[in-house]
Amino acid sequence: MDPLLQVRVAAKRPVADGIAAFELAPLAGERLPVFEAGAHIDVHVPDGPVRQYSLYDLPDDPQRYRIGVLRDPQSRGGSAKLLDAVQEGDVISVSAPRNHFALERDARHSILFAGGIGITPILSMAQQLAREQRSFDLHYCGRSLSRMAFVEPLRRSGFAAQVHVHVDDGAASQQLQARRSIGRPAPGTHLYVCGPTGFMAHVLETARALGWDDAHLHREYFAAAPVDHSADGPFELALARSGAVVRVGADQSAAQALLDAGVGLSLSCEQGVCGTCMTRVMDGVPDHRDLYLTDAEHARNDCFMPCCSRSRTPRLVLDL
Ligand code: FES
Repeated sequence: MDPLLQVRVAAKRPVADGIAAFELAPLAGERLPVFEAGAHIDVHVPDGPVRQYSLYDLPDDPQRYRIGVLRDPQSRGGSAKLLDAVQEGDVISVSAPRNHFALERDARHSILFAGGIGITPILSMAQQLAREQRSFDLHYCGRSLSRMAFVEPLRRSGFAAQVHVHVDDGAASQQLQARRSIGRPAPGTHLYVCGPTGFMAHVLETARALGWDDAHLHREYFAAAPVDHSADGPFELALARSGAVVRVGADQSAAQALLDAGVGLSLSCEQGVCGTCMTRVMDGVPDHRDLYLTDAEHARNDCFMPCCSRSRTPRLVLDL
């Protein structure tokens, strides 16, 4: 794992109902790694969990990371702690930026879909595409304008004509018509979506129904939907390199069983979103429950996310 970066909260301000923007600056004499549109950082919430936040702006001064934090009513100490306990001037730990949601370099046209706080990586993507004078459209959906961050900056931007705002409580004429906005697949056209799970499923399923293939569909999840664990059973993990066998109980994750057995494993989101714990599978069939891998990658069954995924076979053989 990369060493953590210490950053100072240089600014914190509300940008919509329930959303605050944090601007993070390096400590004196230090420099922050550069990033590209779509990147996120892990934020180590003080006395709390690790959470992923997309970097929402491509600043002219790259020595700033900007994140938007939405208050999650179900928060178990992540967003609520950041919003309530972290103030301007505080120093917090973050990871270097990672990017699993990068723009395709050779795209001829890009269609960007943001739902709610999903605007954060999508805003950076629109800025990057605009700077590079590349063709794109941005569809930004939300429940009401007061809960949507960055609408005014988008409307004032040099690419305002490519921005389409769709508000649930607005006029029928501006509601998102997903089939029309997505259209039939075309060579060189890529679709990017970020937002709540239901919104993303709607956009992705509509695109697939229109004939798009997964290689042109790009997505970034913030959090996994609740999973029903009532039918979970035990299974074994055979570690090919060490020869050890680790038993996973019905009431624990594979990652927890590995850590309890002293096997080194990097974890971050612990809900199948970030890809940090990805582990190679040499034999057996995983029960994939992550949102990180695509359907085609799941079908290969050659890797899995032990933080959330389980096994369909009594044993998985892992490259550990
Ligand atoms: S820790 Fe994030 S996918 Fe497993």
